[in-house]
Amino acid sequence: MTLFSRFPKDFVWGTATSSYQIEGAVEEGGRGPSIWDTFCAVPGNISNGDTGEVACDHYHHVEEDIRLMAEMGVKAYRFSIAWSRILPDGTCDSINQDGVAFYNKVIDSCLKHGIQPWATLYHWDLPQHLHETEDGWLGDSIVDRFADYAAVCFSSFGDRVKNWITINEAWVVSILGYGQGVFAPGHTSNVEPYTVGHNLLVAHAKAVDIYRKRFQQQQKGQIGITNNCDWREPLSDRLEDRAAAQRSLEFFVGWFADPIYLGDYPESMKQRVGDRLPKITDQQRALIKGSSDFFGLNHYTTMLASESNGDIAEQAVYGNGGLSEDQGLDLSIDQDWSLTDMQWAVVPWGCRKLLEWISQRYDNPDIYITENGCAYDTELIDGDVNDQNRIEFYASYLDECANAIDNGVNLKGYFAWSFMDNFEWASGYEKRFGLHHVDFETGVRTPKDSAKWFRALLTNQEQRLGLKTEDTSVHLSK
Ligand code: GAL
Repeated sequence: MTLFSRFPKDFVWGTATSSYQIEGAVEEGGRGPSIWDTFCAVPGNISNGDTGEVACDHYHHVEEDIRLMAEMGVKAYRFSIAWSRILPDGTCDSINQDGVAFYNKVIDSCLKHGIQPWATLYHWDLPQHLHETEDGWLGDSIVDRFADYAAVCFSSFGDRVKNWITINEAWVVSILGYGQGVFAPGHTSNVEPYTVGHNLLVAHAKAVDIYRKRFQQQQKGQIGITNNCDWREPLSDRLEDRAAAQRSLEFFVGWFADPIYLGDYPESMKQRVGDRLPKITDQQRALIKGSSDFFGLNHYTTMLASESNGDIAEQAVYGNGGLSEDQGLDLSIDQDWSLTDMQWAVVPWGCRKLLEWISQRYDNPDIYITENGCAYDTELIDGDVNDQNRIEFYASYLDECANAIDNGVNLKGYFAWSFMDNFEWASGYEKRFGLHHVDFETGVRTPKDSAKWFRALLTNQEQRLGLKTEDTSVHLSK
């Protein structure tokens, strides 16, 4: 049985990008500045002093990029809309028609190639003006600002965009942007992340409410939020370690998914974060609960969780866990696991376990993996990028996705991150996640072997490449 044939016929196969990571043209077409422009300008924030000023110059390569996507065989493209391209100062005082025209071009080009556009409204590039004058995600006005912006997008693009994602990874915005300070706007605090997380949730819910009341019936689309989560495997069978792994998942994805599916923050968070965690009012609960038509999931890696031994220095080493001191647990990895260039462990079975955990906790929702992928820097030699490691990554993760479906998970789609090498946030251009190689000097795109592999997979020609499921995944399974 081929890998492809293990997925349902109507499964959504796609690839993903985000505005600041690929577009460039930051001062063209009337775009206003975002907090990422400002953050990149501060020396020391980004590897090699890189910025998104040019990035992949997708702004000038839309047609070519979407043609390459079509050649890869995908039928869906997840991109994000830069808020400050549509509303340069973040408010509805002026709608920038050049910005609207740019996304019309993206959307129309997708449709021309039989690719369904999936639009994310917020992939981290907050208009700088809102940050400066209204305190950004910390301020009281942000919920209405976001909802107004969302309404402009629904009315401009909703005749053709049938799949909306409100917020990309509220956890990253809150923890990396306002907790650890490694992403824009670069704040460090153990209070702000919880305020920001709360505002993101309410803003998401308000946008969904507007979509449902004013647009959904006529436009016949679906809307949801995308959250990110790693899997947490207990370090041992000890009760304390199993509780630590569970707690870690609650602080990661439960933070945002519990309010949406269950109506409140997880008990473990309420107890440990105390007054720093805002309370969900009855009015907010009415908006938030049930506010996602599907469960969007970005998943990259797995870590081992154990009850904290109280060693803060050790916690700092594995800093990807959020505000570790609030969680009382330690994270580590198994030394036998192979690592990508991000130093993230490749653990395909973790993906299956996470999907099963989500299905069980939230009553089997429709799930779309809106990002999964890996960074490997494989050289371009004579027009070819032989990224066998990336092929193995995708084959093994997809194999576990198929296992999850066999086990009853309602997985409906999968988007590979990313269509092409791009600006990888604080890592700049050093980390290459693309299925297409980008020469950042010349802008030339080259399909990597992994893009060709996807094409073979999606056109059900796996045998032609000798790529059977069994070849790639067995040694990584648990
Ligand atoms: C996600 C993010 C993407 C991409 C990816 C790889 O958290 O949504 O923009 O950078 O990680 O690091």
